[in-house]
Amino acid sequence: MTQPRTRWDLAGEANRGYAEKFARLVADGEDVEGEARLVDSLVGRGARILDVGSGMGRVAAALVARGHDVVAVEPDAALVAQSRATYPDLAVQHADILTASLDGGFDLAVAVGNVMVFLAEDTERAVLARLRSLLAPTGRVLVGFHPVDGPATARDYPHEEFTADAVASGLRVDACFGSYELHPPSPAYAVWLLSRDDAPATTTSYGHPLR
Ligand SMILES: C[S@@+](CC[C@H](N)C(=O)[O-])C[C@H]1O[C@@H](n2cnc3c(N)ncnc32)[C@H](O)[C@@H]1O
Repeated sequence: MTQPRTRWDLAGEANRGYAEKFARLVADGEDVEGEARLVDSLVGRGARILDVGSGMGRVAAALVARGHDVVAVEPDAALVAQSRATYPDLAVQHADILTASLDGGFDLAVAVGNVMVFLAEDTERAVLARLRSLLAPTGRVLVGFHPVDGPATARDYPHEEFTADAVASGLRVDACFGSYELHPPSPAYAVWLLSRDDAPATTTSYGHPLR
């Protein structure tokens, strides 16, 4: 079966602004690591992390720099090329998450920077179920996107619809924030932390029960 084209792919040149913006920010030495700092706080040292729709590589590269074992997957050939040129040490698999060849057992799957609102139409549940299938039993998913009024070429994805899709995909909603610095929930941006709906009780490394 042929893979449906993603909203990102269908928009083509209309999305060039993303690549140009982050190329400029990296060249200017600006901070492009906000998402990675949150991710780093959610996992132990040397975690196994999947970056879904890794784009020009900024999040995955920042996680590698923090000592994590990162698998980056990106279907846009131009972004894969930009990622390899900007971060030569970062390995990127040129693939759609629905067909990428991946071993499971991830501590965290990251789909940040509006990936969820650029998926192919009607593949949201398939993608969420694929992420769930790739998690370790205590693994989690971090998702961030504009639910409304995001990029012109993206869909709207209201909070209630995303929650329903996550639950239907075997995921549990652990938290929702309004930013990667954990501001309160907001209509403008949503950062979701999800876990498997069958996740076992877990403890911190200091033995305190979390659930
Ligand atoms: C706005 S870019 C964000 C890139 C990166 N996560 C970041 O924050 O810098 C959205 C990305 O989602 C990716 N994407 C859309 N559908 C996808 C899919 N089915 N599998 C993997 N990536 C996908 C696009 O190729 C694009 O790179």
